[in-house]
Amino acid sequence: MSKNKKFARESAVTMTEMVLPNDTNTLNNLMGGKLMHWMDIVSAIAAQKHSNSMVVTASVDNISFGKPIRLGDVVTLKAKVTRAFNSSMEVHIEVSAENIPSGTKVESNRAYFTFVAVDKQGIPHAVPELIPETAEEQELFDSALRRRQLRLVLAKRMQPEEASELRSIFKIPE
Ligand SMILES: CC(C)(COP(=O)(O)OP(=O)(O)OC[C@H]1O[C@@H](n2cnc3c(N)ncnc32)[C@H](O)[C@@H]1OP(=O)(O)O)[C@@H](O)C(=O)NCCC(=O)NCCS
Repeated sequence: MSKNKKFARESAVTMTEMVLPNDTNTLNNLMGGKLMHWMDIVSAIAAQKHSNSMVVTASVDNISFGKPIRLGDVVTLKAKVTRAFNSSMEVHIEVSAENIPSGTKVESNRAYFTFVAVDKQGIPHAVPELIPETAEEQELFDSALRRRQLRLVLAKRMQPEEASELRSIFKIPE
């Protein structure tokens, strides 16, 4: 594959952490901020690998904390680039938590982070195209355009009328 096109597997990253006392709140559950820090790191590494560049976090989509992660659990974070645009890349992160002594494992969080490849002056530059290979990657690739438009509209970087992919969701006539 040429340097201008890359597969998601070429930049996919898996990171494993153990929840230690300094990572927890007073209920002995993993602090949300600590988990977001790990999510930022694992997804930034995937974006760096895809772009072979420094990257900055441009945005984070909503993260909800459905199930607490306990002190002593082993947390696995998997990050994959879903789509590259011009200078920006969307990265999908899946988080699971495993309690090794009891043998239980739960899927705890999912999120999308957007990174922008920048030079030493912080100026954005173009990144390689992402080529989806599997059906799941294709689905994430296709839906990435809708998510991009939604986050750019919310960030007031795109006019709602320009968001072609959102028209059907919000029932905006052509
Ligand atoms: C992200 C940043 C580099 C964008 O710079 P800019 O001068 O606005 O550049 P542009 O308008 O050309 O946008 C560059 C890309 O960023 C994307 N972008 C900008 N803001 C975004 C946002 N809120 N959400 C998603 N993407 C965003 C644009 O869509 C564009 O993507 P594209 O090239 O793939 O089309 C700049 O805003 C920045 O440096 N922000 C601070 C980053 C940072 O410090 N992160 C750490 C978190 S505290």
